[in-house]
Amino acid sequence: MKRIAVLASGRGSNFQAVIDAIADGRIPAVCCGLVTDNPSAYAVTRAEKAGIPVFIVDFTTFPSKDAYEQALLRVLNDLSADLYILAGYMRIVGPNIVHRLKGKMINIHPALLPSFPGLHAQRQALAYGVKVSGCTVHFVDEGMDSGPIIVQASVPVMEGDDEESLAGRILAEEHRCLPAAICLFCEGRLEIRDRRVSVLPEPGDRSRTGRKIP
Ligand code: GRF
Repeated sequence: MKRIAVLASGRGSNFQAVIDAIADGRIPAVCCGLVTDNPSAYAVTRAEKAGIPVFIVDFTTFPSKDAYEQALLRVLNDLSADLYILAGYMRIVGPNIVHRLKGKMINIHPALLPSFPGLHAQRQALAYGVKVSGCTVHFVDEGMDSGPIIVQASVPVMEGDDEESLAGRILAEEHRCLPAAICLFCEGRLEIRDRRVSVLPEPGDRSRTGRKIP
C-alpha cells in the first residue's frame, strides 16, 4: 500500500473525494495525514471524522515565508509519503520543497491548463468567454500550475453561467479526476518523460495505444 498525504487550506471537498475513494477501494493507499496552513479549515473536521492525523503548520505564526516553508518541509518529510496531494492548498509551494518532492507532488486546478493558471481560474475562464472549461491534475514543478499533466476533464460553459455555477460543474469533475490520477500513481502506472506523462496499461492489458485516459 502506498502512503499518501493531502495538503488543503479550506473546504476540503477534494480531500473528501480522496477519503471516499480510499474507503471504497478505488485508491490502493492509506492517507497518512492532512497538512494544513489554516487551523480553521473544514478539511480538518473531515480528517478527524475519517481518523486521519492532522498536521497544522499555521502560516500566521511564522516570522517569514522561509521559516514557514522549513517547518512545512519537516512535516512533509516526517510523513514520508509516496505522494503529496495539493487539494485546494492555497499557497505557492516554494522551490526548495518542489525540488525535493519532484515527481511525488500533484495538484488539482479548476481549468484546462495551460489556460487560466493561478487564482480564480473559473472567473478568468468566464471573463475570456471560453465555451469549454474543466479541470487538470498535474505534477507540481517550479512554475505556476505548469507541471506535467496527468488527467484532464472538460465541462461546457453554459449561457448565463456565473462563477459559482461554473465552479460547481467543474468541481464534480475534480472529484472524479483527482482520485483517478491518485489511483494511477499508486498503481505505478505514470511515467514522466520531459513534460509528458504516459499512462501505462493495466497489468494484463497489452494495448499501448488508443486507450482513454480516465
Ligand atoms: C478546487 O476548485 C481546487 O481545484 C482549487 O481550489 C478548490 C478547492 O476546493 N485548487 P475544495 O477545498 O477541495 O473543496
